[in-house]
Amino acid sequence: MKKLAVYSPKGGSGSTTLALHIAYELAHRGYRILLVDADPQGGVAASLQEKVRSSKGLCDVFLRDNAIEACLIKTRQPLLSLLPFGACSTAELQQLMSDAADGWLFQRVLDELPDAFDIVLFDVPSGVSPWSLGVLRVVEQVFVPLVVEPMALRVFPQVLSLLAGLRSEGSLVEFAGAILTMWRSEQPYTWTLLKELRASLPSQALLQAMVPWDPLFVQSQMAGTLLGLYSREPSPTQGILGQLVDEILRLGFVAEEAADESEPISLVV
Ligand SMILES: Nc1ncnc2c1ncn2[C@@H]1O[C@H](COP(=O)(O)OP(=O)(O)OP(=O)(O)O)[C@@H](O)[C@H]1O
Ligand SMILES: [Mg+2]
Repeated sequence: MKKLAVYSPKGGSGSTTLALHIAYELAHRGYRILLVDADPQGGVAASLQEKVRSSKGLCDVFLRDNAIEACLIKTRQPLLSLLPFGACSTAELQQLMSDAADGWLFQRVLDELPDAFDIVLFDVPSGVSPWSLGVLRVVEQVFVPLVVEPMALRVFPQVLSLLAGLRSEGSLVEFAGAILTMWRSEQPYTWTLLKELRASLPSQALLQAMVPWDPLFVQSQMAGTLLGLYSREPSPTQGILGQLVDEILRLGFVAEEAADESEPISLVV
């Protein structure tokens, strides 16, 4: 089972949106995937319909010893399940925050997961906090959404030193690549910044697919669903998300867990 994360040091970078759409696309390609909403703000649930927002989740596993399997939500895509964050009080949250830094809570979740997933993808809250570090400690590969604007580019190097620090403490976590998102090609400054970014990073550090700024993301979120399910008409951005996931697979991050494409996909899960 591969353990991946989407994480940005900068808030509002599109992490949750990317995590949801990557998870969906990976499931579409035959991987059994669990998307874990590891953000106490419940970003995954907030992006989806009411049913998910009121469901039990990670914090019920942590605080109330609920069985993980009882908190998993199945989706229209049979190979994609969700583990929402759930709801807890301020006092409980404070307790969790102080317990989470060493990663043990999240490791427990991974250890207790049923053997039903090829990939676990964590949506990690943005910013540098003991909580985020706790999640990052237990994953293997981190994808970093990157908006081409000065603030985001300036804080981006923090991720690399953060992950290096975790590795020096024994974690296996690695930087998998930055994913350009909310890309606005019509803004001349973005091309200048992109050039600077490309010059400052090794070429393999930036994935080639660039997710554009597209109002369809907000519209599909308003409807509590994903871009590919919002409209039955395929959109150019949907095609780019497909390219992004193909690229992730080609890079080999999940290839060793690849589903055997000759195997039939079962109807009943
Ligand atoms: N490519 C995009 N084009 C247009 N809007 C987008 C795009 N990606 C995300 N958004 C919108 O931007 C907002 C923030 O996105 P999202 O919640 O994914 O960011 P985040 O990094 O997870 O934020 P947070 O730091 O709060 O967790 C949402 O309203 C989302 O619909
Ligand atoms: Mg988020």
